[in-house]
Amino acid sequence: MATGEASETGDDPSESGLRHTRGSAYYARNAEWLAKRYESLSFETVHQESLSFLPPAPARVADIGAGTGRDAAALTERGYEVVAVEPVARMREVAQRLHADAPVVWLEGALPHLACLNGPFDVLLVSAVWMHLAESDREPAMRRLHELLTPGGVLFLTVRHGPGPEEQQLFEVPDDETLDLARACGLRPVNVWEGADRLGRGQVCWTRLVLSRECA
Ligand SMILES: C[S@@+](CC[C@H](N)C(=O)[O-])C[C@H]1O[C@@H](n2cnc3c(N)ncnc32)[C@H](O)[C@@H]1O
Repeated sequence: MATGEASETGDDPSESGLRHTRGSAYYARNAEWLAKRYESLSFETVHQESLSFLPPAPARVADIGAGTGRDAAALTERGYEVVAVEPVARMREVAQRLHADAPVVWLEGALPHLACLNGPFDVLLVSAVWMHLAESDREPAMRRLHELLTPGGVLFLTVRHGPGPEEQQLFEVPDDETLDLARACGLRPVNVWEGADRLGRGQVCWTRLVLSRECA
């Protein structure tokens, strides 16, 4: 087992569907070149609109669907205590190699259950993951994210729109649906941006949401 990888989820039956998260074969097969793409941008560039909504460090952060670890590693540099959850073993391996010095705790897990995580967290980052969730998984996923946040905590959620490779298995998720679901689950939209793809893909655009868990 690689350094920093926890084993606590290994036998959890609720995570037994991990092999079947949408697009997992695509991510496993393409992890190395996707790493070049993802790591070509900095956390500060990708999430520039959200930076002012980060709470002061130290604070507990979970990066869910953490991919190659760009954001998780950058958040540790900013002084946060970071758990990174990623369902695809090959992605976790690449991430741990690229960011070997970052004190990130890596876990195997997936939305909607995230049985590997014990909250509460001050910040949840779900970057470029939501469009992998089938409609029936989105409500339980939003409820689980709400449950994992401390009151007043923030969820950064970015959603890709536009076509992608068939094997990546993307859903088109309407922004109204995401906003309605967030509100229904007790997450208040604090900011919403729509903008171009920062990798310059003309047919791709993004919605970036900052959602706050209502204080009781
Ligand atoms: C487009 S990549 C984004 C990676 C990283 N968050 C970033 O912004 O660079 C999508 C990631 O989500 C992961 N993923 C797919 N389905 C997931 C699910 N149900 N729960 C958590 N992660 C998932 C994939 O394995 C992949 O690493």
